[in-house]
Amino acid sequence: MSEPSGPPTGPAGPLWADGTTLLVTGGGAGIGAALCRAFTAAGGQVISLGRTPAALPGGDKGSANGVPTVRSHHVDLGDPDALDAVLDDLECSGTPVRYVVNNASLRAPQALADADRHHWRETFEVNLFAPMEICRRIGARLPEGGAIVNVTSGAARHLSPGTAAYAASQAALEAASAVLGRELAARGVRVNTLAPGPTGTPGLRRAVERGHSLDEAGLAGRIPLGRLGQADEIAAAIMFLLSPAAGFVTGQVLAANGGL
Ligand SMILES: NC(=O)c1ccc[n+]([C@@H]2O[C@H](COP(=O)([O-])OP(=O)(O)OC[C@H]3O[C@@H](n4cnc5c(N)ncnc54)[C@H](OP(=O)(O)O)[C@@H]3O)[C@@H](O)[C@H]2O)c1
Repeated sequence: MSEPSGPPTGPAGPLWADGTTLLVTGGGAGIGAALCRAFTAAGGQVISLGRTPAALPGGDKGSANGVPTVRSHHVDLGDPDALDAVLDDLECSGTPVRYVVNNASLRAPQALADADRHHWRETFEVNLFAPMEICRRIGARLPEGGAIVNVTSGAARHLSPGTAAYAASQAALEAASAVLGRELAARGVRVNTLAPGPTGTPGLRRAVERGHSLDEAGLAGRIPLGRLGQADEIAAAIMFLLSPAAGFVTGQVLAANGGL
């Protein structure tokens, strides 16, 4: 397995040497944490909204010109009032966010007989309503050249029993993102979706432990590249969609899934 390469660079050095700010949900673990590492390594600053605080390796929050490179706001995305309060704070702070990545989601499979309204509402609150509220309040105000990436899942297409609410919420997020891509294009803001395949993260390990997923060997056996994705690889695909290299890409779904 090869080591991740160094920070992405543009013609004049690190991509985001000016301390460009990314707002990410769920920066405390897995793909979100890998994105915090990649984005700060490229010179940017991160604001993470989530239940677990984001931190760079070793618990370091880093600093650039006295400003922490990673700041965390505690919020459960399933609680609309708590999310509103955090977004109010962010608006008041006037932090000039340039990029948004809606990464966190809820995957709690339920068989049809147990999938009541509460289950559907809870799943849609975290996986669709919270990302859309973040897009409405922060994404719609991004400056020209800004970008949004909404993270969904191959589960929207590779359907498994018990995942109706999760798969439907991810498919809805993909459709909404494609529309926003067209809507915000006039302002020079791009919106894309990144759909990871099975990736070695705490979230996947929990799903295996709870019997909600095949084990890692079983999953790897189904993937044409013969292995799980790494969180750093998914973060690199998100970084591409945010970066000027994807400047003509909007309203699209990019699958990073080993060929599934
Ligand atoms: N890993 C995969 O195989 C895979 C495959 C397809 C799609 N994806 C998608 O990729 C994204 C990231 O997945 P991951 O595997 O990196 O997940 P993960 O390891 O579980 O990390 C998710 C992060 O989001 C936070 N979070 C989850 N629900 C939240 C909520 N309601 N409010 C606030 N924060 C919340 C978690 O906080 P806590 O630690 O407090 O829970 C954690 O910090 C998800 O959208 C997932 O659906 C992952």
